[in-house]
Amino acid sequence: MAVRSVTTAAVCAAVVLLQPMVGADDAAAQDVAAGRRKAIACQGCHGMDGLAKMPDAPNLAAQPANYLERELRAYRSGARRSEVMSVAAKALSDADIRDVAAYYAAIRIEIKDVPQ
Ligand code: HEC
Repeated sequence: MAVRSVTTAAVCAAVVLLQPMVGADDAAAQDVAAGRRKAIACQGCHGMDGLAKMPDAPNLAAQPANYLERELRAYRSGARRSEVMSVAAKALSDADIRDVAAYYAAIRIEIKDVPQ
């Protein structure tokens, strides 16, 4: 009986603890899905796969979302300047920035042939 109630309590605690995490995962998945749609505007230069399609554009695949968000806000505010990105970032809302950053950050890459 005692063992059973401890087990029940543990299961309940786990369910309560997991609940917000499941919600957060769902929200993150929604950001990525929305970001995929919004990244269509970026693909000419950065690719849908996050690999640059132009020599002067950087790869975005697997860059940390925090970093991508910070740089996009910097372009938008004028703190970071680029002929192309200062214009491209002006059109982005906070939600757009969060979503495209989540999308490019979610791409998995594999590192090979690191020079030794
Ligand atoms: C016409 C080409 C073009 C388009 C379209 C474009 N970019 Fe860029 N992007 C660039 C170039 C070029 C740079 C490098 C600018 C610099 O020197 O700061 C850049 C830089 C960036 C960076 C900084 C990356 C780093 O490593 O610091 C981010 C983030 C970024 N772009 C995101 C986006 C997103 C998101 C979109 C779509 C909403 C987009 N770009 C659309 C060309 C483009």
